[in-house]
Amino acid sequence: MHLQSALALSLLIWAAAPAASQEATDRAGALIVRMTLEEKIGQLVMVGSDKVSGSNVIERGEAGSVIGFNDSAAAAQAHDKARTSRLGIPLLVGLDLLHGFRTLFPMPLAEAASFDPGLAARNAELAAREAVPAGVNWTFAPMADISRDPRWGRAVEGSGEDVLLGSDFTAARAAGFRKGGLVPTLKHFAGYGAVAGGRDYDSISVSNYELQNVHLPPFRAALAGGVSTVMPALTVLNGIPAAADRALIQGTLRGAWGFGGVVVSDWGGVEGLLMQGFATDGPDAVRKAMAAGIDIDMASGFYAKYLAAEVASGRVSTTDLDAAVRRVLNLKLELGLFDAPSFDPEKSEAAALTPALREAARDTVRKSVVLLRNENGVLPLKPGAKKIAVVGPFADNAFDQLGPHEARGRSEEAVTLLKGIEERARKDNAEVRYALGCDDLCYDDRGFADAVEAARAADVVVAVLGERREFSGEGASRAFLDFWGRQEELLEALAATGKPIVLVIVAGRPLDLRRAADIVPSILMAWYPGTEGGTGIADILFGDYAPSAKLPISWPRSVGQAPLHYDRLATGRPYKPNARYTLRFLDEDAAPLYPFGHGLSYARFEYSDLTVTPVQTSAFVNVSVRLANTSARDGTEIVQLYMRDDVASRVRPTRELKKYRRVDLKAGETAIVTFPLARKDLGFYDDTGEFLVEPGRFSVGVGGDSTTPLAAGFTLTD
Ligand code: NOJ
Repeated sequence: MHLQSALALSLLIWAAAPAASQEATDRAGALIVRMTLEEKIGQLVMVGSDKVSGSNVIERGEAGSVIGFNDSAAAAQAHDKARTSRLGIPLLVGLDLLHGFRTLFPMPLAEAASFDPGLAARNAELAAREAVPAGVNWTFAPMADISRDPRWGRAVEGSGEDVLLGSDFTAARAAGFRKGGLVPTLKHFAGYGAVAGGRDYDSISVSNYELQNVHLPPFRAALAGGVSTVMPALTVLNGIPAAADRALIQGTLRGAWGFGGVVVSDWGGVEGLLMQGFATDGPDAVRKAMAAGIDIDMASGFYAKYLAAEVASGRVSTTDLDAAVRRVLNLKLELGLFDAPSFDPEKSEAAALTPALREAARDTVRKSVVLLRNENGVLPLKPGAKKIAVVGPFADNAFDQLGPHEARGRSEEAVTLLKGIEERARKDNAEVRYALGCDDLCYDDRGFADAVEAARAADVVVAVLGERREFSGEGASRAFLDFWGRQEELLEALAATGKPIVLVIVAGRPLDLRRAADIVPSILMAWYPGTEGGTGIADILFGDYAPSAKLPISWPRSVGQAPLHYDRLATGRPYKPNARYTLRFLDEDAAPLYPFGHGLSYARFEYSDLTVTPVQTSAFVNVSVRLANTSARDGTEIVQLYMRDDVASRVRPTRELKKYRRVDLKAGETAIVTFPLARKDLGFYDDTGEFLVEPGRFSVGVGGDSTTPLAAGFTLTD
């Protein structure tokens, strides 16, 4: 029999979350009694910025929030209009800040490859400080969805496949936004990363067990940090549209977790209930969304159109209406909007693209590019390489390197990879010759000959291939993962010259590298590196910084392996080579091309002496390992601890990441790295969200990627 000790983590978490202050509660209450029905509904209506100019919805109190201003003067005007409304209730102005505002950082998935949530918190804070002076006070980020399918374009907006990494990064980003003065929105509640077949907007079927252990933890983790808003997805989870999922919003989020903040629908989510066949007409959709707990209707116009009649007839209660309005007013009060001075749009320029922002963006590029392969030490580029050919459609392509969801990012303010390489090459007196090869769709090969000629004349070739930014992000699912158009042919032509080639990939997802990994010695995943892509990547290519990032997602060999993640549940027929009736494909390897956690450095690291020591502190055991930098270069290794609960009352993953740390080691240096494991690190959620820690045996291993052997263990006796 298992002794189950419920830690009731959800309750502990909520003890830390601030409730609305008494002052806010009083002020909100005083306002509500003065508000007309129309003014109340106005607070629940968000309009697109295109609906604001030339209309007086804001002055009339008919829209309490706006999304998507393109310039700060327009935002300033809208804020002023709100001040002149009858009750002077200030405006929420929201925008998606997935990876920055004007200065664009590498995409969230790239940032997660740093395994450094502190970096993400800093970047979110900096992005907020750049956006707030431009009139933005709310952001629809971070994306908390765990995603395990590279076909899904939105994987690039999140932190990858791992629950711990996803939780840490989501919480860090939310905290960073708050610190910088923006209200974060945790999206998309819940399970959106598991859309069927990786097809955006398709439905999701996941068990409660998976929901509790995989998809909900990042939301829980980020909510623990304080004021946030939550956005339900546009999708259908287990047969219920997220915008009308009463059990999830009212039951889990508000009930079990005690969330008292604002729930905002995704764009048109309330209207979507009609297409989903879940509501008969507009009024029915509004009733269902209100009953589920959607406070703000983003852009469907349904609350504006139908809610008044529903309240007047009593089909939606005034109590429910007032509760939603109160949550919105509380948010505005907590943000200090009522007492904030009107802002000066001129000041937003001074806050944009500061040296500190550019430096942080460059630092993030260095820490997020993943060196997938480096045979024969092609990288770093040698000072003796005096002729460098830079080839490919993404080498001098600022637009695509910024990535999707560019907020106010501008191509002309970005440093392209070519520019970064040219600038750095000058220091070594190296000559750079550039050839486009083909455009970013690469349908024709007219530029190939030029590219091959440049390669022939060079000592080394940097080929920059990838996918357009519009092929990642929302509405960008792919059925194939290969390089678009004839890019692979271009690579083959370059490889045929016999010159050493560094392939730099600018993309939002793992691409099919079976061919490339055969013909190219060195492969660097640059993701969409953003505004400082060129400087940061040159830092890595020329060896001024050693790469340290590790994959936050498994890199499949081919699309048929998707969805793919390292922490699969144990099977009774685990993979065995050449054994047919085991977990495998007949026509493809079972293992990914590069596993979760993989990433090389210019330094070399060796692990030894895995030790488990019982301790009497708040931890249960210490797991330590000796890490040696056996190379002649300084470097940073991301040390990862994996654990398996060997036997449990539910089938558990064959391994899970439980701890990780970036460790800097000088050339030849050795360190003992110790991770304390506490009881709470050993447990899991049951279907109802109760946290269980079961006695028994646990296996552990510490290494540089998710294939590290679990070579030690310990037993929890009670
Ligand atoms: C739809 C997307 O699903 C959501 O993530 C985003 O915040 C909104 N559009 C607003 O841009």
